[in-house]
Amino acid sequence: MINKSILVIDDDQIILESLCGFLASEGFETDGADSFKVALSRLENSRYNLVITDINLPDGDGLEILDIIRNKHPQTVAIVITGYGTIESAVTSIKRGAHDYLTKPIIDDELRMAVARAINQQSLMSENERLRVQLERKFSIENIISQDYKMAKIFELIEAIADTKATVLMAGPSGTGKSMLARAIHHRSARRGKPFVEVSCGALPETLLESELFGHAKGSFTGAVANKEGKFLAADGGTIFLDEISNASAALQAKLLRVLEARQFEPVGSNKTRTVDTRIILASNKNMTQEVQRGRFREDLYYRINVITIELPPLCDRVGDIRLLAEHFMKIYCSQNNREKLGITDEAMQYLERYSWPGNVRELEKVIERAALLGKGRFISADDLPDIVKQEKNSRQRTYNKMSLKDALAEPEKNIIRQALEANHWNRQETAKALQINRTTLFKKMKYYGLYTEAEKLGLI
Ligand SMILES: Nc1ncnc2c1ncn2[C@@H]1O[C@H](COP(=O)(O)OP(=O)(O)O)[C@@H](O)[C@H]1O
Ligand SMILES: [Mg+2]
Repeated sequence: MINKSILVIDDDQIILESLCGFLASEGFETDGADSFKVALSRLENSRYNLVITDINLPDGDGLEILDIIRNKHPQTVAIVITGYGTIESAVTSIKRGAHDYLTKPIIDDELRMAVARAINQQSLMSENERLRVQLERKFSIENIISQDYKMAKIFELIEAIADTKATVLMAGPSGTGKSMLARAIHHRSARRGKPFVEVSCGALPETLLESELFGHAKGSFTGAVANKEGKFLAADGGTIFLDEISNASAALQAKLLRVLEARQFEPVGSNKTRTVDTRIILASNKNMTQEVQRGRFREDLYYRINVITIELPPLCDRVGDIRLLAEHFMKIYCSQNNREKLGITDEAMQYLERYSWPGNVRELEKVIERAALLGKGRFISADDLPDIVKQEKNSRQRTYNKMSLKDALAEPEKNIIRQALEANHWNRQETAKALQINRTTLFKKMKYYGLYTEAEKLGLI
């Protein structure tokens, strides 16, 4: 662990040295500054967890140091030392951002306790900052991994529409990143400071879902013991993300239509109309056009929803992303679990790239998480992958191994010719006609693929 660092500022050399000495003996990294000027240059050049400063400095005001810390080093906490123990200067310094104050003469125990409290506060602050940065990063487009041109187009579209109020429909199979992109849209819009509220429409029974979304009035049904606000109001000013929208009942669809048209609704059991300013993003892993055709989803609602549709391709249609994503997840899960892995072996990568990934990115993420956690070696190897990923029958049909087009077509061509011959009882004239090639070409191809010899042996020709 790295020692916490403290800068002590006092023009009295004796106090400065004794404070620094005491704090060093308590296990802190310490620096001293005996003037305002030196303090400024120290702050300019290093980062401190804590600054302890005298208020009265010959060449400047200790309170100004507090301002600098607040503005330029928000992750540093400050304690002031007040010379004459005047309560006014202590209050002023707290107002200007000091965490605590000490009065001269400084008693070791007091100092020890004040420093411990301040350092504790500082850790909390930097932890919050770290979490905030992590959150921002997680939702910024930069952290959505892809090199596929279909995804690049989607990112462009997201950039273009993020800061509008347009309703967005995310389509695509489960695990392709619909929720992740919905968040990214919110975080790229001016609404980012307001709530992003996610509701899974498949997870709740119809009646509960309605009150979950629109709220309810006290007494409107058994169990409604108090007024409830509902997610649409919770997302006022922000974004609401309605996942698995194809599950919405007819009644709910009617209510949604009105929200989409007028941003208005009434809570369950209430006739008080509410108006909200909410950006609506919806997602479905079902084919919505089909749902409309089958009469399960209102056509007028579908047209309202279908303003901007983002169709996320399944992972097997962007094989190039598998390596990138696998390496990305490996780094994440290794650092989260204090594991160290140098990479993924070629053999393991081949399995990953060949597998069909019915659960898409989510499934890949789980597989890598498990491998990073349980794998013993310095690389993720085939041994660390679940059997299902390694079974041939689960691989994608159209695997591309480096070969020419001619070689790639040889096998299918041979099969088609054989099937055509069989269908035509090995009559070459009929077969040639069926395949729309001339007899000479058929003959050459039969020779080339060894079908002629085969047929001869079997007495078919
Ligand atoms: N392009 C991507 N880059 C990085 N992580 C991704 C990407 N797409 C999906 N993920 C991750 O895969 C998991 C599933 O994504 P999610 O958005 O929940 O999918 P969906 O909502 O379509 O079911 C999440 O953990 C998400 O962070
Ligand atoms: Mg989702």
